[in-house]
Amino acid sequence: MKLWTGRFSKEVDKVTNDFNKSIGTDSRMYKEDITGSMAHVRMLVKQGIVSPEDGDKILAGLKSVLSDIESGKLKIDPDAEDIHTFVEQELTKRTGDAGKRLHTARSRNDQVALDIRLTLRNESGKVDSLLSSLIETLTGIAEKNYDAIMPGYTHLQRAQPVTFGHYMMAYAEMFLRDRGRIKDAVKRMNSNPLGSCALAGTTYPIDRQYTSDLLGFDDYCHNSLDGVSDRDFIIELSSCLSAIMVHLSRFSEEIILWCSKEFSFVELDDAFSTGSSIMPQKKNPDIAELVRGKSGRVFGDNMTILTVMKGIPLAYNKDMQEDKDCIFDAFDTVKACLTAFDPMLQTMTVKRDNMRKAAAKGFINATDCADFLVSKGIPFRDAYKAVGVLVKTCIDKDTTLENLPLDEYKKVCGEFDEGVYDAINLENCVMKRTSAGGPAPENVKKEIERVRKINSSLN
Ligand code: ARG
Repeated sequence: MKLWTGRFSKEVDKVTNDFNKSIGTDSRMYKEDITGSMAHVRMLVKQGIVSPEDGDKILAGLKSVLSDIESGKLKIDPDAEDIHTFVEQELTKRTGDAGKRLHTARSRNDQVALDIRLTLRNESGKVDSLLSSLIETLTGIAEKNYDAIMPGYTHLQRAQPVTFGHYMMAYAEMFLRDRGRIKDAVKRMNSNPLGSCALAGTTYPIDRQYTSDLLGFDDYCHNSLDGVSDRDFIIELSSCLSAIMVHLSRFSEEIILWCSKEFSFVELDDAFSTGSSIMPQKKNPDIAELVRGKSGRVFGDNMTILTVMKGIPLAYNKDMQEDKDCIFDAFDTVKACLTAFDPMLQTMTVKRDNMRKAAAKGFINATDCADFLVSKGIPFRDAYKAVGVLVKTCIDKDTTLENLPLDEYKKVCGEFDEGVYDAINLENCVMKRTSAGGPAPENVKKEIERVRKINSSLN
């Protein structure tokens, strides 16, 4: 049965019904739908629009529908048009005329706008708390490896020395920003559309502040057309989720590289890796690869909502029913990725010795060597050229700056002395990078404390 019979002389065609219905997606909002209806009916009673007796019947009926769905006693009809229809019809079966009064001063347009906001507020909280745990994991790994020297890269070429702790904290910063972005988006989303009705408000004396307070909104939407038409919060949240996936995907890429024999900087725990059906020696970083791959879904979800919204006039259009599949998929994907990624990281073995060995090759102390000459009064550009010549000499002689004899240094520039070996010692190179935000172990320790404080203050 449709809510909108009366004007129609025929039952709706089966194909049309199947095409039109959204129950497969929106049934997951049953709780939010019922919560919204409860607030609405309380307001109707307070304003004298519905009698207290009918109000009590509706509230009790809604409560029983909710508990029956949760216990499994009431199955959601897969042929219902949507969750709003299903709940209202079930309520009416249980309460008769009282149930028929629930939809006074309301439309499914403001109802669905409300349900999505309530659902996404909740989903955002879940992603936020998964991010908080991930940041905690990263600070833990950073603390253990705050002095583990590794090569930092640009263009994937060894560049300058950093520590593994510093590296982990770079990702912690990204995920901290992700938390901030989600929280900002939720703040903007937290306005109540209920009371916008179909598009033009209502002549009933409703109290929108009251339902906003009951439902935990900071305010209500101040334009009824905008209240039912706005899906900016889906655009914003799906782009926040895309940013999270970009970070997770870059991190995954690094882990995949680091797991390879060529790097061998980390090893994933057996419980968080998979094997090959044919190659007995293989241990594959599937979680990281899947996370990297799933980023595509979330970016696609973001593009979906942008495209759905871009050409529709105010106010509600049925196109907007396509808003839920994409954002639910984006949230589910991000939650699944964070849930798998965090324990994979927690159980990962960090191979400090291999990183230190890799740092010894690749002339990552060449800048420090040039800086040594600068300390002797040579202009940086000249010092840079001199060290370039030294690096070429090392490559020709198959040696390192550390092992090159002093007379070779002196051939290139007379200002070199024994002190250069201290200056290019990798431990010293890292220790002296104390510029704010730099990788010096003492800096990293401070940053770990700072990030921990911010992270817990956001909880
Ligand atoms: N299932 C619809 C949706 O998700 C609910 C709103 C229906 N409103 C309407 N005027 N047909 O968008």
